[in-house]
Amino acid sequence: MAQTTTYPTRNMGAPAARQDGRLKVTGQARYAADIAVPQPAHAHLVTSAIARGRVAGFDLQAARAVPGVLEIFTHENIGTIREETFFGAGGAASNSLRPLASPEIHYAGQIIAMVVADSLEAAQEAAARVAVAYDAESPTAGFDDPGAAEKPVTAVDESHEDPQTGDAEAAWEAAVTKIDGLYATPPQHHNPMELFSTTALWEGEQLTIYEPSQWVYGLKHGVARQLGIDPSDVRAVSPYVGGAFGSKATVTPRTAIVAQAARKLGRPVKLVVTRAQGYTTASYRAETRHRVRLAADGSGKLTAYLHEAWELTSRMDPYFNAGTDNTVVMYDSPNIWTRVNIVTADRNTPGFMRSPPEVPYMYALEAAMDELAVALAMDPVELRRRNDTMTSPISGARFTSRSLMQCYDAAAASFGWSERDPQPGSMRDGDWLVGWGCATATYPTQMSPATARIRLQPDGHVRVQVAGHDVGTGAYTVIAQQAAESLGVPLDKVEAELGDSDLPPGPVAGGSITTASVCSVVKQACEAINRKLSGGASAAPQDIAAAFENLDQAVIEEYAEWSPPSVGASGPRAMYKGGLKIVGGPMDDKVMFAFGAEFVEVRVHRLTREIRVPRITGAFAGGRIVNPRTARSQYLGGLVWGIGSALHEATEIDRAAARYVNDDISEYLIPVNADIQDVDIIMVPEVDEEVNPAGVKGIGELANVGTAAAIANAVYHATGIRIRELPIRLEKLL
Ligand code: MOS
Repeated sequence: MAQTTTYPTRNMGAPAARQDGRLKVTGQARYAADIAVPQPAHAHLVTSAIARGRVAGFDLQAARAVPGVLEIFTHENIGTIREETFFGAGGAASNSLRPLASPEIHYAGQIIAMVVADSLEAAQEAAARVAVAYDAESPTAGFDDPGAAEKPVTAVDESHEDPQTGDAEAAWEAAVTKIDGLYATPPQHHNPMELFSTTALWEGEQLTIYEPSQWVYGLKHGVARQLGIDPSDVRAVSPYVGGAFGSKATVTPRTAIVAQAARKLGRPVKLVVTRAQGYTTASYRAETRHRVRLAADGSGKLTAYLHEAWELTSRMDPYFNAGTDNTVVMYDSPNIWTRVNIVTADRNTPGFMRSPPEVPYMYALEAAMDELAVALAMDPVELRRRNDTMTSPISGARFTSRSLMQCYDAAAASFGWSERDPQPGSMRDGDWLVGWGCATATYPTQMSPATARIRLQPDGHVRVQVAGHDVGTGAYTVIAQQAAESLGVPLDKVEAELGDSDLPPGPVAGGSITTASVCSVVKQACEAINRKLSGGASAAPQDIAAAFENLDQAVIEEYAEWSPPSVGASGPRAMYKGGLKIVGGPMDDKVMFAFGAEFVEVRVHRLTREIRVPRITGAFAGGRIVNPRTARSQYLGGLVWGIGSALHEATEIDRAAARYVNDDISEYLIPVNADIQDVDIIMVPEVDEEVNPAGVKGIGELANVGTAAAIANAVYHATGIRIRELPIRLEKLL
């Protein structure tokens, strides 16, 4: 059945189809592992079976006997690979261990050897025959296991401050209506459709890396530093990415090993990491715990908000999200206290996963807000309204715009929230208990400096070049739309070129910063072109060909740099060296966030406790929406992910071995089509000229925030059972 979608138009661009859509569905889009290189050798990783201890020795005889094996690389023969700083400490690496540096084992799944052979089959066969003797020590798997070490983040990172104001402890003690809840979120792993691959090709001193990447400049410079070579000799290429969400943002240990092997063998080497090995090769979302205390006066005004959190990380690296930086500006409260702690265990270093701080921290806060609404006998939407604020309760800085309650009003009306009977268990449909719940979605508006080169021809053809990335989000199209609009040409005349470190540096495709940052620099470069064409005006000329007649050049090419005002020219300078400067969210002088409101209906079967989500409504405001069609896809994907986060996703850990158990996509549960029914997406128009020249807030990580709380709150409404630990599976409701 043909389906038509109508899009709102205020402060929204055209709902253009993706420029890369046809290439992708016809197989013409070449992903990293598809790119043909001459005579590649094939690599296969061998990873540690133990989580703590050391390799006592290898027996490689049987592996070397496999016909076609070229070399087996271990710490004994890989040669020098230098240290690259952990990204949390300013480098590009996913963890601070030097790849294949020593026999020491820090986590199960650590790369301990790599077989390279003439064929993939030979490499796989030989890898299976690598015999490893270990000196194993008893590992720590995570929270509550012997050896888990807890520290406040302030003890490991002097730049971190836990936001607080007033005397929250005293206010909470004195309050009549208050709640005190412990919430927990599980480890979650990336399972992008496109596996993690690396192909390394040397041409003399020049190294080309084909690897799916959210940050080609980080990859180029990080690997150059690891190999001790000039970064101008390294090119990282990643035109298409088949799912990333944070897992392809940093430099994982595999890349330098593959490049080193290719150099030693004098032949291109291609590695495709297996699905299971991806669980420990790339990043993941570690488990978190939260104690949230809220107190309110009789009118529902918050009088205290206390939030202490614990995040699991590795022994090597203090990765933390500290989502309290953002949760403290959600609602007005005179008294706020927060503390974030890390707990170290023998695990691989966690990292970015879609809305890294907001998903766990907003789950805890929004579940607690629902508990407070119940304690106050107040409608949960009304509780948010009473505590809505246009300024940060911590700093007093104002929101540049905040449309949270407009989102609630739009979503509530569409959902039919006014029909809700607040009594838990009161709404039934035959054998099904019906529950309605809601929660706030939010994501900080963040930006990075960006540079771009744009060429305009008299016939109106435009080429935009920036080493940004389309990670499946629609960035090619959205960036081209910005250029088309600013230059006054049709979209089909604009071609954007992304994902190649030979292009001028663009932002990491993380933190939902691409559209805001790249559209801002593209707009600036286009205005410079217009000024040249028209002798001063930044608006596009009516007739480009005629305007060229007055110039003494055949085409115009402009290079531009844009930085958020607080960063300035130091930003692009850092980016040319593979650095990052991301700013946004709560800043000293202003606070920038996108918001949403999500309403869900759950049905819990009276007897089996099977949980279904027949409908979900999300209303979102994110400043200017350059393309409502690709934006809608981002919201849709986010809501689906949120449902998975609430009901399905969790990585199970063998606690004695500190190993992931369900490291495949048959046992790592995610929603399938049958789990997703009605999804209602509303775009609330919002104009914010202050955030950046493009007026864009960034929405890629907005919709999957708060969904888990909305579902948990709906499950409570259906059953009267408050589940405070995700995922919510039927056995928890028995
Ligand atoms: Mo996203 S988790 O910021 O790549």
